[in-house]
Amino acid sequence: MLSVGNVLIRHGRTKLTITSLATGFRPTKVCLLIVKRPFSLPTRSSRHFPARNLLQRPEAQQKGWLKGWLKGWRGKSSSKPPRRPEKPGKPEKPKEVESEETPPENLYAKQLDKIPEPIPRMKDLKKDEIRRFFGQAYNQRWRIGGAVALLLISSSVSMAVPYCVGKIIDVVAKAGEQTKDTLFTIAAILVLVFVAGAAANFGRVYLFQTTSAKIVAEIRTRLYSSLMRQDLTFYDARKTGELANRLSNDVWTVGDSLTQNISDGLRSLMSTVIGIGMMFYISTDLAVLGLVTVPPIAALGIFYGKYLKKITEKILDAWAASTQVATERLGNMRTVHAFNQEQKEIKLYDDSVVDMLKLQYKEATAKAMFYGMAGLTGNLVVLSVLYYGGILMSRSAITVGDLSAFIMYSAYVGTSIGGLSGFYSEMMRGIGASAKMWEILDREPAVLLDTGIIPSQPLKASLKFDHVDYNYGARKEVPVLQDFTLEISEGSFTAFVGPSGSGKSTVLSLLLRLYDPDEGAVYFGGMDIKTLNPKWLRSNIGFVPQDVHLFSSTVYDNIVYGGNEGVTRDEVMEACRKANAYDFIMEMPNQFDTLVGERGLLLSGGQRQRISIARALVKNPKILLLDEATSALDSESESLVQAALKELSKQRTVVTVAHRLSTIREADQICVLDQGRIIEKGRYAELLANKKGAFRKLIQRQMLAVT
Ligand SMILES: Nc1ncnc2c1ncn2[C@@H]1O[C@H](COP(=O)(O)OP(=O)(O)OP(=O)(O)O)[C@@H](O)[C@H]1O
Ligand SMILES: [Mg+2]
Repeated sequence: MLSVGNVLIRHGRTKLTITSLATGFRPTKVCLLIVKRPFSLPTRSSRHFPARNLLQRPEAQQKGWLKGWLKGWRGKSSSKPPRRPEKPGKPEKPKEVESEETPPENLYAKQLDKIPEPIPRMKDLKKDEIRRFFGQAYNQRWRIGGAVALLLISSSVSMAVPYCVGKIIDVVAKAGEQTKDTLFTIAAILVLVFVAGAAANFGRVYLFQTTSAKIVAEIRTRLYSSLMRQDLTFYDARKTGELANRLSNDVWTVGDSLTQNISDGLRSLMSTVIGIGMMFYISTDLAVLGLVTVPPIAALGIFYGKYLKKITEKILDAWAASTQVATERLGNMRTVHAFNQEQKEIKLYDDSVVDMLKLQYKEATAKAMFYGMAGLTGNLVVLSVLYYGGILMSRSAITVGDLSAFIMYSAYVGTSIGGLSGFYSEMMRGIGASAKMWEILDREPAVLLDTGIIPSQPLKASLKFDHVDYNYGARKEVPVLQDFTLEISEGSFTAFVGPSGSGKSTVLSLLLRLYDPDEGAVYFGGMDIKTLNPKWLRSNIGFVPQDVHLFSSTVYDNIVYGGNEGVTRDEVMEACRKANAYDFIMEMPNQFDTLVGERGLLLSGGQRQRISIARALVKNPKILLLDEATSALDSESESLVQAALKELSKQRTVVTVAHRLSTIREADQICVLDQGRIIEKGRYAELLANKKGAFRKLIQRQMLAVT
């Protein structure tokens, strides 16, 4: 409390003023309640740096200057743990009222659980991107329009408060016989107005929140659907983390900036305009005095903002780098343990955390200086307004109620100007995030899933490569398949062998049309597969990939994943028996309901492979593509699976990539690949007979390895 003349000043929030008066608080003298930072530039809410990571560091490793700080912090954290985001990956919503400690724009802290990205600048954004961004809001125009109307009502009520409070103070100050009645009438009217304001506020918050949720849901569905349709060239050039980020954080950012941000921005704009208007209405002289301090503080804010931006970008980079390293390591803990790299990894992470902490100390210094300065200036402004206001009062130019209302309006204006700057940067962030989404939504996949011929009659299961050249888009300079020509007749068994990287898996990818050849064509039943419907084509092909990846679900779900629509439980069981997987599945505690863990890691390599074979067989395909399908099996299981595959190959065309050459003795044709070309072709015995042949050399090397 601080006493100036006969005016009592108390630090606190404007809302307290109303509460106190509404609850019958009767000041003995004239009472003014003043918000703390009338002219500072606070903006959005934020979260603090998650020092919880640091707490996990062994005490001995903490560096000197950090140690004491961490110790103190740890003490505090035991009673009150650091806040975590309620929803991982979701940027925090801006809050209505700022706390004293809230920094103006705490970029990195808003994005705790993602690798954050800097705010784009206006000049980097295209007109079309901005138009499309607001197009999302246009789809929800009725809801947003309704919310804005309610916002106008609730903001008007809020902005009427200082004026009414001023009038009440004047009534109290003039205390006479009529005071009680007049007060009652004013209070009764105000209660009604406040109830209307509260109802409007309810509607505004509800409409903005649900609209944001609707926009997010709609974009997410479209984005995921577009991602699912993209061809593999798209995925080869991108990181999974980046795409997951698009789908979660970016979508939230767009939804929020179109609703919550618009809501906050409009409210700030209204508060600023009405506030300044009312300040001039109450007293032009005082208004000029109050507003004179705005430009220097704004300049200080701009200077501080630029410095903060620079340092925040550095923190973002450090943050992104350490998060990327941590995510990769956590996903490969087997390798970390197997190679004894725990200590090295801890140190690597610790160093990056300490580097970031140093930057944050710099940031804290800048922040402390800014708030110190802004607080001081704000208080000086209040004092000078009171001083000059006091003089004006003594001349009866204004009343005490006017002065109170004036100071409240100036507080509104100060806070709202800060809100406007936050609005701008949030909007830029939203447009930047949406631009990255359009990139995905607009991309036309090289392989369109819903086009192409679906033959009315079954096609012959024969295959043909006709002078095919192929390079992966991600590495154009490396030729993978060169002038690749081969015929595979229906019901035949073809094997590819050759050194690692010679192009064997690529051949299978082209048959599945995961990629399209650069030159030449691939035929199925005499038809160029580019003219066929890709879904139909793939429904005729069973595929066992080289790296088996199962989804973290049950064994049953993973096998049924390979079936065409309407696959029955009996067909799943049958496929398991053929793949020699049935027995081991039935021996597991939950049998077909056993959970396989992330990427199937709870199963052995051989078990995963047999489930993968069952998954390929469940649709009873005409063509079976096997990429090293038995490489992880022991010799007993392998011979059983081989016997099953031999049986299966009677009714279908089988193309296999073989590592163990003993498994392809029965093949109708063996193709030896080298650097994307077929250098030898023939039956097992024929190729073996060629004493200088590459196949014979491969066999010899393998036999040497066995003996
Ligand atoms: N997605 C990809 N993007 C870019 N290059 C790739 C991609 N996949 C494979 N390659 C490259 O294409 C070449 C052929 O790869 P492919 O996987 O077909 O070899 P492979 O004969 O199956 O080898 P392995 O026996 O080791 O499985 C290699 O040089 C490889 O580095
Ligand atoms: Mg391969």
